[in-house]
Amino acid sequence: MDPSQASSSVANAAPAAPLALRGESLVKRFGAVTALDGVSFTLGKGEILGILGDNGAGKSTLVKILTGFHQPTGGTLHIDGHETLLRSVDHARSLGIECVYQDLALANSLSIYHNMFLNREIVRRGPFRLLDHKQMRERAAQCLDDIGVHVSSVDLPVERLSGGQRQAIAVARAVHSNAKILLLDEPLAAMGAREAGLIIDLLMRLKEKGGLSIIMIMHNYAQTLDIADRIMLMQRGRVTYEQKSALTSVSELMDIVRREYREMRAASAR
Ligand SMILES: Nc1ncnc2c1ncn2[C@@H]1O[C@H](COP(=O)(O)OP(=O)(O)O)[C@@H](O)[C@H]1O
Ligand SMILES: [Mg+2]
Repeated sequence: MDPSQASSSVANAAPAAPLALRGESLVKRFGAVTALDGVSFTLGKGEILGILGDNGAGKSTLVKILTGFHQPTGGTLHIDGHETLLRSVDHARSLGIECVYQDLALANSLSIYHNMFLNREIVRRGPFRLLDHKQMRERAAQCLDDIGVHVSSVDLPVERLSGGQRQAIAVARAVHSNAKILLLDEPLAAMGAREAGLIIDLLMRLKEKGGLSIIMIMHNYAQTLDIADRIMLMQRGRVTYEQKSALTSVSELMDIVRREYREMRAASAR
């Protein structure tokens, strides 16, 4: 066993495949608040990592560091084996890191195909730089078809779609732009079981196609264990547990969280 890997659960859980991403002792402070207090993690190529944890645990902050939105106060990030300082969201995107945000950032009044090419529209050759709607329509339809997302027409405005379909379009857009690492911050929040099923199926198809590594912040333990190859539990800015999904269970995870909660209550009662 690699002696540099501290706790046994973490050592068991480390992916054997080459790493897409590695964070080492990441710290993020906002003034007096320490959102991340030394977070180390790995993401294997082709792996789906699920991040669980209470509100305020630092999950979104971690994802925002991986998107280049926040810069860490301390620690390092290694992308494809190279230590990398992500300067901005554009910089991260140029390296193939795409994020699907909770609030989606789709333009609701615009069509599906237009959303899929937002800020990277295809223009026709010639002096006038006219948008090539025909080509964008065809390519959008092809891309959605490739990943098994079914819509009646790519001309539909996004506002006519359900929450699950909108989320699927946002994922399709990220994948279409050649994402190698896809980050999802609570993609199933506020979704019914059927809608969530749509997105889960989509993520499983993307995984099967290969070439994509995924980190998803999740709420529901059972769903997470279903989808993710590995889970990571965050509590108060730290990773407190990490394990392959197949080697843990909802009840084990709940026990860990319950124990922590009791310790905190006991500490505050003292
Ligand atoms: N931009 C910010 N400015 C100040 N504090 C922040 C900011 N973003 C997050 N925090 C704080 O950092 C901690 C972790 O937040 P967050 O990463 O959003 O947690 P989670 O996504 O796990 O709910 C919280 O205490 C939160 O209030
Ligand atoms: Mg959050």
